[in-house]
Amino acid sequence: MKRHSLLLVDDEKDILKTLTLTFEEDYEVFTARSGLEALDILEKNSIALIISDQRMPEMTGVELLQKSITVSPYTVRIILTGYTDTSALIQAINKGHIYQYITKPWDRQELRIIVRRALESYELGIENQRLVKELQVANDRLLDENKLIRKELDKDLETNKIVGQSPAMQRVLERMAKIIDTSAAVLLTGETGTGKTLLARHIHYNGPRRDKLFVEQNCGALPETLLESELFGYKRGAFTGAVKDQKGLFEAADGGTVFLDEISEMSSLLQVKLLQILQEGKFRRLGDTVYRQVDVRIISATNKNLDVEIQSNRFRSDLYYRVNVFPIHIPPLRERLEDIPLLVERCLNKFCKKLLRPATRLSQEVINELCRYNFPGNVRELENLIERAVLLNSNAQIEIGDWLPQPTFNPVVGTRMEQIERAEIIRLFEFHNGKHSLVARDMGMSRTTLWRRLKYYGIQSGEEPGVSE
Ligand SMILES: Nc1ncnc2c1ncn2[C@@H]1O[C@H](COP(=O)(O)OP(=O)(O)OP(=O)(O)O)[C@@H](O)[C@H]1O
Ligand SMILES: [Mg+2]
Repeated sequence: MKRHSLLLVDDEKDILKTLTLTFEEDYEVFTARSGLEALDILEKNSIALIISDQRMPEMTGVELLQKSITVSPYTVRIILTGYTDTSALIQAINKGHIYQYITKPWDRQELRIIVRRALESYELGIENQRLVKELQVANDRLLDENKLIRKELDKDLETNKIVGQSPAMQRVLERMAKIIDTSAAVLLTGETGTGKTLLARHIHYNGPRRDKLFVEQNCGALPETLLESELFGYKRGAFTGAVKDQKGLFEAADGGTVFLDEISEMSSLLQVKLLQILQEGKFRRLGDTVYRQVDVRIISATNKNLDVEIQSNRFRSDLYYRVNVFPIHIPPLRERLEDIPLLVERCLNKFCKKLLRPATRLSQEVINELCRYNFPGNVRELENLIERAVLLNSNAQIEIGDWLPQPTFNPVVGTRMEQIERAEIIRLFEFHNGKHSLVARDMGMSRTTLWRRLKYYGIQSGEEPGVSE
């Protein structure tokens, strides 16, 4: 099959014949005796190139070629003419409506070459068009994917909702609700892993500033100058390597929230700058003389006791009053055991999905054990623990095992119940002559649990678990 179709247009029969003879060997040739006939053919066939005579009754060649653009935009348009100086022709060429004009009489060989080249440019045009379409499709797909990711993210934010069934967390959430719609500075305190960062994000993304940026900076992570340029930006030349002016996080977050983690680690110089932002909403970039104005909400967090820091002159008291407009203390996990089951459930779901494992649950015994543990790393430690459990167990229910940390009993803070349990286990051991199975039976617990209790209470029993008597 011939690759391309040509359309030849001339009102003179003989010329059409000559032209046909020139091209019919290499191309599929269509002929038309008038502009109207030509347009009809263009509409019904896929024509790569059209050669038209200029002087025809009814419609001139230039008119035809201009009209052909709407019918078949990618067709290459060539005109045959005896006169090159008609203004309509020159205009048409200038506007790019015509690829080339050929003066009569033409050279057969030259015309062939011109057509071949023109078709190459036609192919390029088609290829271009194909690429543009592909790009469009790829773009559309990206947009769709973006939407999907967005939805997933929203879902994630949904499932990342703060777990807080316990009275202690309920109080935290109530306090938070009071200030979520304001711009009041919030100071979050609590041990590591209690959820300070989570809460800061929650405040931002559920408040009126949610459409602006939430930026986070750990003040303990950088040396002073670096932290200063990170937070406040710098002017070109402020230090070696400052080759251009640079915005800082405060400017980036204008209208949004800046979360300053480990705020106690800020140097006294930066404390002054921060105070100025809090008091007057203005600051200067490093090395700059101009003051800039920003509107940011400041949420700070610390796991240190700022009162102590103030007393030892490491933290300015005037800054303290400014960042501490609204303090929220998040209690450690061991003081809100009621939250453990739901946290566990969320984590199990999350990690089973992440690790592509079938759904699983923790046995009640495991949950009981977790409630005895003091979780120095709080919720983060619990999350890590659950991830490990899911990794190590593929059963529908996860039982007590080596993956569980061994809690230790502290006689000073141990509850009354624990004191009683400890005494009872010791009594039964004496009574049963150290036989584990009998003690476990009387205590109503499995032998593994008994073994863990012995370790917990620091009771020497002399027997290994699983050893039959
Ligand atoms: N109440 C909660 N509900 C659900 N997930 C929580 C809760 N509290 C904490 N988490 C999760 O526990 C992990 C640790 O929380 P986060 O990073 O907010 O603690 P942090 O107090 O900021 O710790 P650090 O002092 O080390 O910065 C995160 O993965 C967080 O999502
Ligand atoms: Mg944090």
